[in-house]
Amino acid sequence: MTRLTPRVPGTDAETGPGVPVPLEAHEDLVIRERLADPSLVDWAVEVALGEDESAERRLAVPLGGDRVAGQITVTGWSQALRVLLALDGRGGFPDLRDQGGRGDAIDDPRTISWGLNTNLAEPDQRARMWGYHDVGRRAYEAELTLDDARIPVTPLPDPDQFERARVAGIYDVLLDGMDNYLADRRFVQSLPRADADALTVAAIISRLHMRGVIGRLAAHGIDQFLDLGCGVVPCPSTSPDQDEPYTSLQDIVSRHHSTARLVYADYDPYVFGASRTAVEEHPLRPEWVQGDIRLMRQFLASGRVRHVLDWRRPIGVLVHDVLPWIGPDETVSAAMTVLRDALPPGSAVSIVHATDLGTNRMSRLSAPFRAEGITFRPRDAAGIEALFGGWCLEPPGLVPPHLWDPAHPHANLAPNRAGALAGLAYKPLTAAAPRVEEEKGTDHR
Ligand SMILES: C[S@@+](CC[C@H](N)C(=O)[O-])C[C@H]1O[C@@H](n2cnc3c(N)ncnc32)[C@H](O)[C@@H]1O
Repeated sequence: MTRLTPRVPGTDAETGPGVPVPLEAHEDLVIRERLADPSLVDWAVEVALGEDESAERRLAVPLGGDRVAGQITVTGWSQALRVLLALDGRGGFPDLRDQGGRGDAIDDPRTISWGLNTNLAEPDQRARMWGYHDVGRRAYEAELTLDDARIPVTPLPDPDQFERARVAGIYDVLLDGMDNYLADRRFVQSLPRADADALTVAAIISRLHMRGVIGRLAAHGIDQFLDLGCGVVPCPSTSPDQDEPYTSLQDIVSRHHSTARLVYADYDPYVFGASRTAVEEHPLRPEWVQGDIRLMRQFLASGRVRHVLDWRRPIGVLVHDVLPWIGPDETVSAAMTVLRDALPPGSAVSIVHATDLGTNRMSRLSAPFRAEGITFRPRDAAGIEALFGGWCLEPPGLVPPHLWDPAHPHANLAPNRAGALAGLAYKPLTAAAPRVEEEKGTDHR
């Protein structure tokens, strides 16, 4: 097989729906590069998808070795029939079948498969069944996630974890939002009144801190933002008053930049579902990434995260009230190191992190959270400062969030009411060039 056949977007073979295909990409080169046994391509069948000489041609690679499944996606019934007729009865194409289309129209894409069923397999497992080697599988996954926010860029926690109260839901209850379940409300109600109040005040103070941070970053010229552990993005109707704590980040950002890039990330699929309308209908057109930041290396190396931000220019990263929900200190520290290394010089990291402040000992809440199956790990000032990796903290340094910006609406509250410390630091312009290796490295789960 020497003839090169350009792939056409939307009629991809083994690359999933809607993957943008570079013009120079050729289907057989792409598949050959990814296969653990590239010699299988030599036995491939080239299928013409139309009558005349200029008709598009597709490559069907037979099974063999680690390759236990294959498929081609074409446009419409007539092309599907051509593929079936061309492969029927040939060795290497067992259980040949038309798996149907993504819609009912006559020209909707249809997938012709052979070998084992990959329908329900995870992308990595699917690519393994197609006989791709490690790098090929990662390339496939990266491509797959580029444009589809529904596809997680890392494995997500066991869904059972979310059947009980969830952090995002509890936070939503505290902020008087509408995107929570009975389990979330029951958990908050089960807390002693003083503890529930302490959490509520801390949540409100932390949310309102976002405005000061975005204002500072925007004044510094930053116009792309990544919100890690973003929680539910509220619809505008739930926050008509701009001073409400539940005002969304997208509304705050768009006050400064009407064309900013904004990317939300969270590992809770429910958060994604609950936020979709608010995000999709917003003029800023924010992007969404479903991923677990404990797997920061994998998260940052994903095609989607590389694609939705411009990694040649500074990025403002919000890490607000997410790290206390991640247990082992080494996991948090490793994730933040990977993040800092990957960011372009001039980028900023803003952290809000729960801590014991005087008599307001947030660590007293770890036990009730633990009983609910949720990690809650306040850290001391030294532990929080270490997460900036030696980058110089902007004035006023590491302080309770409502004392960070004099314009914070609750700047008059006692410092310990925040139950948290906040800081912002820029990556030095002289820092080494960013690094995101696509290897599985020091991630901890
Ligand atoms: C308390 S909420 C904070 C929401 C938002 N950052 C804020 O300040 O308003 C914590 C969020 O972090 C998310 N989260 C916790 N652990 C995470 C992880 N390992 N990866 C991604 N998101 C995570 C939870 O699902 C939740 O939505």
